[in-house]
Amino acid sequence: MRVIIVESPQAVAQCAADLVCQQLRQHPDSVLGLATGSTPVALYQALIQRYRSNQLSLSQTTSFNLDEYVGLPPSHPQSYRHFMEEQLFRHTDIDPGKTHVPDGMSDTEQSASAYEQAISDAGGIDLQILGIGQNGHIGFNEPGSSLSSRTRVKTLTPSTLEANRRFFADDEFQPHLAITMGIGTILDCRQVLLLATGKAKAEAIRRCVEGPLSAACPASSLQLHQHATVLVDADAASGLEHSEYYRWCEEQRQRLGHPSGH
Ligand code: F6R
Repeated sequence: MRVIIVESPQAVAQCAADLVCQQLRQHPDSVLGLATGSTPVALYQALIQRYRSNQLSLSQTTSFNLDEYVGLPPSHPQSYRHFMEEQLFRHTDIDPGKTHVPDGMSDTEQSASAYEQAISDAGGIDLQILGIGQNGHIGFNEPGSSLSSRTRVKTLTPSTLEANRRFFADDEFQPHLAITMGIGTILDCRQVLLLATGKAKAEAIRRCVEGPLSAACPASSLQLHQHATVLVDADAASGLEHSEYYRWCEEQRQRLGHPSGH
C-alpha cells in the first residue's frame, strides 16, 4: 500500500488530480471509477480547472460510479447521478453516453448484474477513486460486507444515514438502501486511490492502513490490493502509527525518482 500524507485538503485534491491526469495522459481512454460524497468534490473542481486550461480531456474516458440510492430517479437532486452531473460531468468534455451510475430504480438484482457486466465489457476499471466512511465503509459496503462481494443492494447503517442526513431536507425521504459495487468489484480495479481528509476520518484510516484485515472495516480489504494508494491530509493521518515511515518513503520517491513498492 502506498500512503501519501500531505498537509491540507487542498493538497489532497491537487495530488489526486495529478494522479488522475497522469493516468489519462498515459491512457486517454481509461476507465475511471468515481465516488460521490464531500471528499472528492475538491478533486472534481481541480479536474474541471485543468480541463478549462487545456491540461486534461475526458473525451475518450469511460466512468463507473461506485453507488446509487435505491428508489431515487437520476433526476432527483440527491441522486448520485445528479451529483456527478453537477460536480463533474457537465463541466467537462466527458461523453455522457460513457458515464455509468448504478440503476437504483428498476429490478435491482438485474441491474446489479448488468452493472458488473458493463464494467467487464469496458475492460475493467483502471483507476478507482474512493472515499471512506467513519465506520470504514468503501462504496456503501458497510461493516460486515463480504470481502468478495459484487455489485448488489446494501442496507445503510444508522451512522451512515446520519452522516449523509445533511444532504437531505428535514422532511425529505432519505433512502435506507443503496446499490453499490462490492468489495470484490473494487479489488478487481487495476488501481485504487482512496482519499480522506479531516480528523473525523483518522480512526477509519488507521484501521484501513494498519488495522487487521477484517470485514469489520471494509476499507482494510485494500491491504490485499497490489496497487492501492491512500492519500490523506495531516488530520486524517493523525492516527497512523507509522506515519513517519510513509512520509520518508515519499521523500525517497521524490529524491531518487524511483517508486517504493505498494
Ligand atoms: C460515495 C461513497 C462513500 C463515501 C463515504 C465518505 O460514493 O461511496 O463511501 O465515499 O461515505 O463520504 P464523505 O466524503 O462525504 O465523507
